[in-house]
Amino acid sequence: MFPLNSSRDYITNLKGQFAVANSREIKLGKVISKKIMNHDVVIFRCQDGKLGVVDAYCSHLGAHLGLGGRVVGNKIQCPFHGLCFDREGKCERKPVAGGKITFDIPSWEVSEIDGIVFVNQDNENNWQLEKFIPQGFCRPIIQNFEFRGHPQEIIENTVDITHFYHIHEYLDIQKEKSIETKGHHLKVSYNLSRKHGLLGFGKSRLKFSMDINAKGLGYSQVDINIEKYGLKIRQIVMPTITDNEMMVVRALTMVKEFNIRIPRFLKKTLAKLICYFVAREFKRDFIPDIKIWENKKFIENPGVLDGELDILNFRKWCEQFYGN
Ligand code: FES
Ligand SMILES: [Fe+2]
Repeated sequence: MFPLNSSRDYITNLKGQFAVANSREIKLGKVISKKIMNHDVVIFRCQDGKLGVVDAYCSHLGAHLGLGGRVVGNKIQCPFHGLCFDREGKCERKPVAGGKITFDIPSWEVSEIDGIVFVNQDNENNWQLEKFIPQGFCRPIIQNFEFRGHPQEIIENTVDITHFYHIHEYLDIQKEKSIETKGHHLKVSYNLSRKHGLLGFGKSRLKFSMDINAKGLGYSQVDINIEKYGLKIRQIVMPTITDNEMMVVRALTMVKEFNIRIPRFLKKTLAKLICYFVAREFKRDFIPDIKIWENKKFIENPGVLDGELDILNFRKWCEQFYGN
């Protein structure tokens, strides 16, 4: 089935890896509630430090495990009658003796990479994301944006050159070749310049290159290289559907420390400072996109302008991430 249709029939059975929380939100023994792809779930950190993600509602009489449920060893215990569920959702203690009812609840495969928690959503090919904070980069600044939209629209932005000119006022955009796709992986590179510099001040145009790598519809990584200043920036955008048409986009910004002869702590401080300005500029660029996404409809067979064929190639690539 094709993803979105013109009546905004947003489908939520997307396959892939989707960011759902920051590791720091879930301390040892803690339970938090989230909405993911229209499901109420709880995420809990067991005593062995590993995370579990299970359906929020107990299969016995329906209590919400996120409200009073507690971690007991490596299981979560329901606040109502004390049933316990392991990370696979298996019920390990029946409230009353006997009976053949299965009390197991749905669970999601979960992973933690560089401080972000991902769930594996119906990922048939079972591909994994890799670590994304490279050596020598500062700790990322994380920004969350909540709005009405769909992950496909967010990732489609990376191949939509015309909007780079019009919304973001980028200039001289050159694309070396068409998008490359291999399985769940999509790659595209540009050389371009930005009218207002990269840090939001200064009048001179700034030239830079942008290498974009998307992995499914839940993860897109943009590597920016500003040769003139020896500055390398990584921006990661991770959209996840929460409830109906609502989504959260987690955006990570990080900057590589300069290779110059100054004390380590100064290198770190400088990278962090630049990162602050870059993250601020990212937000400034992202907000006009959000306004469009929240109010647009999906045109299934769009008439594309010259140079926009990659939008169609992109949509073909997207089809693999939808159920039948
Ligand atoms: S509702 Fe959870 S144990 Fe009864
Ligand atoms: Fe954009």
